[in-house]
Amino acid sequence: MSLLDKHSIIEKNATLLLVGSFLVVTIGGIVEIAPLFYLDNTIEKVEGMRPYSPLELAGRNIYVREGCYLCHSQMIRPFRDEVERYGHYSLAAESMYDHPFQWGSKRTGPDLARVGDRYSNEWHVQHLVDPRSVVPESVMPTYAFLKTTPLDVKDIKYHLEANKAVGVPYTQEMIDNAEADIKAQADPNANTADLLARYPKAKVGDFDGNPAVLTEMDALVAYLQMLGTLVDFSTYDDAAGSR
Ligand code: HEC
Repeated sequence: MSLLDKHSIIEKNATLLLVGSFLVVTIGGIVEIAPLFYLDNTIEKVEGMRPYSPLELAGRNIYVREGCYLCHSQMIRPFRDEVERYGHYSLAAESMYDHPFQWGSKRTGPDLARVGDRYSNEWHVQHLVDPRSVVPESVMPTYAFLKTTPLDVKDIKYHLEANKAVGVPYTQEMIDNAEADIKAQADPNANTADLLARYPKAKVGDFDGNPAVLTEMDALVAYLQMLGTLVDFSTYDDAAGSR
């Protein structure tokens, strides 16, 4: 009996075909899934990544609330045109503390994965208050109300706890100090040594141009200014990922 004849037996017998298909899919599934149980982490560890500071996290919550992801991606793909425009392509580790991640699937505006440090705080505030005052052809909506909306700092520790519950390594010390840290990061006169020990490279200062009030604008700009700035690419070895 030739191989073709044997195969036609399976093809003509529905039960046999079903059992055979099930076996093949099971083996394929085990081969793909089993190794995941033996790996501690499927994301390559990268120097410099840390959880968001409370102020950055609050800003990120505003970014999600306002639906910025509907027009902006945070995912630089490893293509020459993207890397030349936006910088080093995004690493998986750079969104490992994002719940949910903000990769996005639509670019009405530019990618924001590395927008941190590209503009001054003043530029961001002006742009968010009235985008067309700095980019005349912009179709971005105005977010002027962020500048007059006080930031709710009371429940920030619960946001840290919620993130901890899904795997972000916030310590009890970070949670206990969340409210103090959120205020200190936007206060030009605060002692920020503890904050910077907990959140290295955190940008400190008054972000919205009004040191008297901690606003949602402070938080959003603090978040935008840290995007893509944690990993030092002058020391990152990307040999494994280059193509
Ligand atoms: C309707 C689509 C839309 C929405 C929603 C939107 N943007 Fe934009 N954004 C744009 C467009 C278009 C540009 C490019 C023109 C410009 O700079 O204004 C832009 C530019 C930007 C830039 C400058 C990026 C660069 O590299 O020059 C930043 C920062 C930014 N947006 C932040 C935000 C934030 C934060 C939100 C949410 C609060 C938001 N955007 C919501 C469309 C949008």
